[in-house]
Amino acid sequence: MPHRSLPQAQTPESVAQRLLRTSVAHSFDPATDIDWEAPLEEGAWFCVPERLSLYGTPLWEKMDQRQRIELSRHEFASLAGVGSWLELCLIQMLARYLTSRNLKDPRTHYALKEMGDETRHVTMFGMLHRKLDCPEYGPPAYLRRVFTAGSLAFQDLTTFALTLVTEELLDRFQREIARDERVQPLIRRICRIHVIEEARHVSFARTELRHAMAHASPPRRAFHRHLTALAASLDVPCLLDPALYRAVGLDPDEARRQARSNPHFKETMLWSGEKLIAFLAETGMIGRAQYPWWRRAGLMR
Ligand SMILES: [Fe+2]
Ligand SMILES: [Fe+2]
Repeated sequence: MPHRSLPQAQTPESVAQRLLRTSVAHSFDPATDIDWEAPLEEGAWFCVPERLSLYGTPLWEKMDQRQRIELSRHEFASLAGVGSWLELCLIQMLARYLTSRNLKDPRTHYALKEMGDETRHVTMFGMLHRKLDCPEYGPPAYLRRVFTAGSLAFQDLTTFALTLVTEELLDRFQREIARDERVQPLIRRICRIHVIEEARHVSFARTELRHAMAHASPPRRAFHRHLTALAASLDVPCLLDPALYRAVGLDPDEARRQARSNPHFKETMLWSGEKLIAFLAETGMIGRAQYPWWRRAGLMR
């Protein structure tokens, strides 16, 4: 598979230094930069309705406007809950990456800065959960166990590829939400803050992944291609906790079945993964052997 190193002018160190400078200029504190006291707007959505898992299904046609908006509230809470767990996993992966790095290196400093950003994001999503008054959504128990065992095999390649899986997917949903005036101002504000800070993380992960791929042996690249694809096939389908369907008064088995076979939602997932898949393929992090896993993740046709 092709893999390209960075353009000469851009070294991982220069990228980290640039990201450290922009972090100083554009960072947010969820405790002071969000108005948590403002009431939620009556009749406003919590996600872009056309991106909801049941949009366009027979169940959707039977739901009234109030129930559809409720579904959007719980789907966003699920994305925030599972997303927070994934960000905690990322903090662990970064901490492991840092144990073998030089403390004087700007790449080390930026990874530490990113860990700090993620602690604020997890706090922000936790405060949002409280505000939305939803059950605490998260990944299934088996995924928590798989991460604990499987992450022992993660190295730089898997750390940064899996970082991108979480960040680039959620980024696509959140950019759209931030622009959509039908969505609650609180949700749009949170998405805007997250998109700004995550853009730096994506830049860092892309740079580190290119660099790591350019220096890895073919067997090591092959192993981490498989591991990344396997992990993505397990975690991406868990972004929506099926408990949310019961919370909005739907039969959870039927709702899950309709969501899984919903052509509209399949297109949404493919759309969310477009940039990610193109980048991973370009860097050589996806080969033909991994296509079935990426299809299982819902990110490839
Ligand atoms: Fe984040
Ligand atoms: Fe991030």
